[in-house]
Amino acid sequence: MIHYSEEDIDKLNKVFRINLINSCSGYKSANLIGTKSKSGIANVAVFSSIVHLGSNPPLLGFFLRPSEIFPRNTYTNIKETGIYTINSIYKEIINDAHHTSAKYDKSISEFSMTDINEEYIDDTSPPFVENSPIKIEMKFEEEIKIKANKCKLIVGKIVNLHIEKKLLEKDGFLSLYKGKIPTISGCDGYSLPEIYDRKGYQKTKD
Ligand SMILES: Cc1cc2nc3c(=O)[nH]c(=O)nc-3n(C[C@H](O)[C@H](O)[C@H](O)COP(=O)(O)O)c2cc1C
Repeated sequence: MIHYSEEDIDKLNKVFRINLINSCSGYKSANLIGTKSKSGIANVAVFSSIVHLGSNPPLLGFFLRPSEIFPRNTYTNIKETGIYTINSIYKEIINDAHHTSAKYDKSISEFSMTDINEEYIDDTSPPFVENSPIKIEMKFEEEIKIKANKCKLIVGKIVNLHIEKKLLEKDGFLSLYKGKIPTISGCDGYSLPEIYDRKGYQKTKD
């Protein structure tokens, strides 16, 4: 095994350290967050930190990197409008999805810089990603500042959930592999997983 102590990590080259620390916790979810500014400019960006926070109420969170250096359009739009969408990435759009991480000015929509199409399910909805197998409309609930690194946990409630039919199993489980939904490792690694097994709810052995 290769060992890195706290001191070793502190001394690492910047890029090596980013890659190492970003991959060591395992595979992450691969989503695009869609928003619209108050002035009507759509925005879409890749996020790998979207996590389940609870099913009742149905909450999802994501971690926003510090916004001091670069303005974060996704965050500004969520704060302005209180709504956003979370759309699963799928195999055919991986290249374009990754490109949405480029730092475009707020006046430029990433939808116009890629082949990802925006879709509006009703007149008031924020932009969804067309053909995404899982499209979730979210309402902003709260933000929690992480003191250790100035990141923010953005908490939202699922208000509308749209799922491609073939993914949904009888018990509510979503077979993500049927939608060719990738997972992300590190900052730029995309993998297409297959399901290994479902193990069911566990009871104690005694
Ligand atoms: C694979 C990948 C995953 C990312 N995940 C996150 C994330 O979870 N949180 C975050 O703040 N930024 C994340 N980013 C960076 C944003 O995509 C990037 O800052 C983007 O420019 C934000 O766009 P916006 O300014 O339009 O909000 C990620 C970038 C990549 C390439």
